[in-house]
Order: sequence, then C-alpha cells, then structure tokens
Amino acid sequence: MYTTLLVTIEEEICNITVNRPDKMNALNREVFNDLDAVMDEVYHNSAIRSAIITGAGSKAFVAGADISEFLELNGEQAIALAKRGQVVFDKIENAPKPVVAAVNGFALGGGCELALACHFIYASENAKFGQPEVNLGLIPGYGGTQRLAQVAGRSRTMELLMTGKMISAKEAMQCGIVNEVTTPEELIPKVKETLKLIHTKAPFAVTKVIECVNMFDHTQDGYDFEIKQFAECFQTEDMREGAAAFLEKRKPSFKGR
Ligand code: COA
Repeated sequence: MYTTLLVTIEEEICNITVNRPDKMNALNREVFNDLDAVMDEVYHNSAIRSAIITGAGSKAFVAGADISEFLELNGEQAIALAKRGQVVFDKIENAPKPVVAAVNGFALGGGCELALACHFIYASENAKFGQPEVNLGLIPGYGGTQRLAQVAGRSRTMELLMTGKMISAKEAMQCGIVNEVTTPEELIPKVKETLKLIHTKAPFAVTKVIECVNMFDHTQDGYDFEIKQFAECFQTEDMREGAAAFLEKRKPSFKGR
C-alpha cells in the first residue's frame, strides 16, 4: 500500500519507517503522499492509539527534502512544494493521538522539520540534527523556522539556520529539541515504553493536551511568511548553484544573486 514507508501496527502503536535508505530517506513527493495517507490511518483507525516515525537503516532518520527534485522547480512550484510539506507536517502536529519521532541518525533539513512536527523527539546517541538549507542557498520551508524557534529559542535557531551546522543528540537535548537520548538499540523500546505509559491515560485528555499545547506560540502568519521566503530563494541563481553543487558532490560558489 505504501511505496516509501514500512508500516506495522503492534500493541496499538503504528510504527512508521521512512524507507529510502539508499537516499538517506530523503523526502520526495512519494514520501509526502505516503505520510499523508498513513496519518489518515493514524487519525481514523481505532486499533491505533499512537505512532512512531523513524528512518530505515542506521545512518539516517531523514536527510532532508529530496534535493534532486529542486532544480526543475520555479517560484510557483516552490510555493506548492513548501505548502505541501507544511500541510502534511501540520497533519502530524495536529494528530489526535501521540506521534513521536525516533531519530536514529541524520535529521537534516526537512528531516529535522519532520521530527519537530512530531509531538516530541527521542534520539539515539548517533543522531545529528541540523538545518543545512543555507548551504543550498535556501531556508527551511516545512515549518522549520517556526517550530525550531518554539523549542530551541530565537538565538539558538538563528545560529543553527545561519551556519547550517549539525549538532549531536546531546546538544539537541540541551537545546530542548530532544527529550531523551538512548543507545541505538534502546531507541525504539524506550519510545514504546513511554507510549505504553500514555496508553494507560484517558485518550480524550491526551487529545486535549495535544490541542492545547499546539496553541502555544502558534501563529499561522510565520508559517505562511516562511513559504513565501522559501519560494523567493528558489528564484535565485545561488539556490540553483547550491542544489547543483550538492548533486555534483562539489562545493557551491555563491554569487549573492
Ligand atoms: N536529497 C537527495 N539525495 C540525498 C539527500 C537529499 N537531501 N541526502 C542524501 N542524499 C543521497 C546522496 O546524493 C547519495 O546518493 P548517491 O549514492 O546516489 O550519490 C546518498 O543519499 C548517500 O548520501 P552521501 O552524501 O553519499 O552520504 P554521506 O554519508 O557522505 O553524507 C549527509 C550524509 C546526510 C551528510 C549528506 O548526504 C548530506 O549533506 N545530505 C543533504 C542534507 C541537506 O542538505 N538536507 C537539506 C535539504 S533541503
């Protein structure tokens, strides 16, 4: 049923694994379609009480949006791409049941944004977080400028977005991005342990927690503004250069136009 996800339901937990390990689980159109569909299942299947999102393999959770889809896009298509990403990530954020990110390697760009859209994040000690879009002449477009600032604060977010640098799981925990750091083997068991604890609570109250906490610091303006600025970056020569340089495995040469 899903072409880019592995999905199982065990003990009322829906285990969702982004499954493109040869491409570091990068988010292409199919992954977004599959995530959209699986969230429908999480919302409506009464056999599911919570969900875990993780990445296939040991190297990556998700290493970002699929950069190979970028070069063909114009400004309008970039707006559509960012809107699509935001709609799917909003669906995760507003799910009526807990959705936890189990970050097991690189969570970069759209991967970090995907983790941030989940209700909370556990990470294995080999996880790395970052928003490296600036290396491509870009900014986050799937809500990252807003959600990262909500959890990590303004100045930390400024630094991470401007430098594009990666931080370790421990640093991400110090920033408030990650709740708990485990060994790689313990990651999924620990998330399941917490979800099973939540399963013992009143489901209606859990849903209301999600709804209320999501009201915190959430104005739609910032998200809409992000989409426009993301698309403006797409109209620059530097963005074409940045994406081409990544795909050609060379350093970009930015010209400021
Ligand atoms: N989009 C498309 N393809 C990606 C990708 C992405 N975001 N991230 C990784 N890949 C692909 C690589 O192109 C490579 O494909 P190939 O084998 O066909 O050449 C494959 O995944 C393995 O990646 P590689 O770069 O060789 O692995 P690495 O261990 O040297 O580096 C990363 C891992 C995650 C540091 C590096 O892949 C990276 O920087 N990815 C992009 C991160 C990013 O900028 N994300 C934001 C996008 S907006």
